[in-house]
Amino acid sequence: MSDPLTQLTYQAFQYSKSVLSLAHKTLSNQVLEMVAPPTPERKPQPLKPEVINQIRASLEQIYQTDWQEAQTGLYPTSILFDTPIEDILRYYPLLWWDMLQMQERANQKRYQEFSPEIDTVGYPRYYLQNFHHQTDGYLSDWSANLYDLGVDILFNGGADAMRRRVLGPLKAGLQAFEGVSARGLRVLDVACGTGRTLKFIRATFPKASLYGVDLSAAYLRKANQLLSPIPGELPQLIQANGEALPYQDNYFHGITSVFLFHELPPVARQKVIEEAYRVLQPGGVFVICDSIQAIDSPEFKEMMENFSVMFHEPYYRHYITDDLSDRLSQVGFEGISTEQHFVSKYWIAHKKHTLAGDTVK
Ligand SMILES: C[S@@+](CC[C@H](N)C(=O)[O-])C[C@H]1O[C@@H](n2cnc3c(N)ncnc32)[C@H](O)[C@@H]1O
Repeated sequence: MSDPLTQLTYQAFQYSKSVLSLAHKTLSNQVLEMVAPPTPERKPQPLKPEVINQIRASLEQIYQTDWQEAQTGLYPTSILFDTPIEDILRYYPLLWWDMLQMQERANQKRYQEFSPEIDTVGYPRYYLQNFHHQTDGYLSDWSANLYDLGVDILFNGGADAMRRRVLGPLKAGLQAFEGVSARGLRVLDVACGTGRTLKFIRATFPKASLYGVDLSAAYLRKANQLLSPIPGELPQLIQANGEALPYQDNYFHGITSVFLFHELPPVARQKVIEEAYRVLQPGGVFVICDSIQAIDSPEFKEMMENFSVMFHEPYYRHYITDDLSDRLSQVGFEGISTEQHFVSKYWIAHKKHTLAGDTVK
């Protein structure tokens, strides 16, 4: 395919995902309104037309950036079309079934409910929540199978484009290790979930050693399904808390974390940052992707309020006012910068280089 044709195909692909997501949202809201209407306090505030236009424009912008970064060779153009079509066909009907149960739980304010067979012992208390009103929170295969589809619909098809925005800063940061072979680079994704970010990191760094941690065994199983058919070294997946990473000091050259921080209470946010600092090599890069924040996007405040009203996100309100740059610099990160793409914000932070004479491996 010639480039303009591929670009057109990519635009059509994203456009259809947006249209299908919006159609799903409209239809499901109508159905829920009939069968199990949301309680008045769960109704979202209507957004101003200029805000809707701004959101649309930023969605188009992130697709352009996604396309352009593929054209620069940052990652192969083929990953722009990566979509779990079999999963979508298999799990979409279940999403409807699940939605009715979610609505019932949400209306009744049942926020910490798990199927009897789920063992909740050993997890931090803050984690034992039905985040987004998901059945079983993050603790079942059912939840892991529906998660990607649900998130992509929520972001009108833009979830992967947001995840891929960590790749540019990661690659730039890893240039600090020019003496290290492609195979010698070690990259960790904290709270890797179903492995989509790791899949994109693998496409960008085909030879690097990749690692993923997550608290959910079910999500790690799903990540393993996604990642194991990819040729090359299999990323090492470990069930662990980001607050206590099971790695030695100064081990990784790069660390990413996508959509984790808004689901952590402030103390846990701080600990994850401290742990990322500990396990990063001097000169290493830490890239965080999460929601935009009220502190720098006041025009989207209603949208953010809607998010915490409609979905069960107990730590989101604090998150949107939390100064992560300050947290990062307090533990010693330097060269901290931020970016925004669509409805995500990115923090790029570097661990201090070693003192003169020390070598970086
Ligand atoms: C919103 S999901 C994001 C998953 C994935 N990064 C993505 O891009 O879709 C949040 C993930 O964080 C994990 N998680 C939450 N708290 C955690 C913690 N303290 N340590 C490790 N993983 C955690 C959850 O199990 C879940 O997979």
